[in-house]
Amino acid sequence: MEIVEFGPLTAEQRRELDGEEEDPFDSGGIMLHYRPKNRHVGLRDDAGALIASTGMVVVEVGVGVERFPVVGLGGVIVKALHRGRGLGREVVQAALARANSLGPAYAILFCHRDRAGLYRKLGFAEIAAEVLVQQPGGYARMPHQTMRRRLRQKVEWPAGAVVVHSLPF
Ligand SMILES: CC(C)(COP(=O)(O)OP(=O)(O)OC[C@H]1O[C@@H](n2cnc3c(N)ncnc32)[C@H](O)[C@@H]1OP(=O)(O)O)[C@@H](O)C(=O)NCCC(=O)NCCS
Repeated sequence: MEIVEFGPLTAEQRRELDGEEEDPFDSGGIMLHYRPKNRHVGLRDDAGALIASTGMVVVEVGVGVERFPVVGLGGVIVKALHRGRGLGREVVQAALARANSLGPAYAILFCHRDRAGLYRKLGFAEIAAEVLVQQPGGYARMPHQTMRRRLRQKVEWPAGAVVVHSLPF
């Protein structure tokens, strides 16, 4: 197993990860526009096949009266056959190690509530405040759970509503 870093996910890599699954992220019914991620951390098996991936982007958020950059994590996926063996944890940990060197003090992500347990175990906490995300026609309420995790010691997440100045990721 090897940890690899690359830029945008190609259509071929997407197909490799999705396999036979039609909608691995259960996005059916959610009408939000998402953005592609320009950096990825992945896991390759010994034969060189991509079996897990996490995307990253740096975006600006407003929280209460403050505005600061965060690393946005998204597109966390482990190929169906390989799930339940710790690879999701491994690929998110590898992405967090990379995120640590990008500068922002926090990482955030959006996830279905039934998947939050994976991220809680990796130090993420749910944001209870309302979260708005940019959309082509303005800002919209994020229906999924938004979670945050410190990338540096001694930082405090400010109180207040969150506005993500980017399409979600
Ligand atoms: C979610 C996903 C990435 C998890 O990958 P995985 O390799 O099966 O997860 P791991 O085996 O590394 O699990 C690590 C820990 O998180 C927990 N966990 C994994 N998936 C979980 C879930 N859906 N809900 C709650 N806990 C979960 C595991 O129980 C494990 O806990 P442990 O350390 O106490 O044993 C994988 O199921 C997947 O690719 N799903 C489809 C795409 C998707 O939903 N991505 C997430 C979008 S938010």
